[in-house]
Amino acid sequence: MSKPRVAVVMGSDSDYPVMEACVKQLRAFDENVHVEVMSAHRGPRRVAEFAGGAEAAGIEVIIAAAGMSNALAGAVAAHTCLPVIGVPLPGGSLNGLDALLSTVQMPPGIPVATVALGEAGAKNAALLAVQIIARHDAKLAKAFQTFKTDQAKAVEAKNLALLERIG
Ligand code: RP5
Repeated sequence: MSKPRVAVVMGSDSDYPVMEACVKQLRAFDENVHVEVMSAHRGPRRVAEFAGGAEAAGIEVIIAAAGMSNALAGAVAAHTCLPVIGVPLPGGSLNGLDALLSTVQMPPGIPVATVALGEAGAKNAALLAVQIIARHDAKLAKAFQTFKTDQAKAVEAKNLALLERIG
């Protein structure tokens, strides 16, 4: 299999049930994915080491997901020039509001492209990574166009089915 161009990192193995949607979506585009648990608070050295070496390892986009006070996406972004997509995850007493705010509210100079909370965000992070890589990969761009067309067709089919049901 080809070298991974996308890395999906997450703060804990407990994040995987949600982030599985991200990994599955990337694999649906035949992207090999580097998946790793790493924690900005509990294991900051590995985060710096990974992010600092990701570009040289062939990674083009990093997706970083965490719950509670999500420092992971920002910490990764601090150590790399690659685009970083942050996925805030639900959980904890504030059910994700904490992760949303800590992922999205980056100081100027260190951007993190924050997607929606939870599974929708996990899926959209994968799609955004595909869109970024597709700018220089015509085959991937074509696959993404097909995805969009199929999605539009599915909406039309739902519309027809609804109209038939309600008369
Ligand atoms: C965050 O704390 C992780 O990303 C996870 O969402 C949350 C809880 O982690 P665990 O206690 O389940 O390892 O850092």
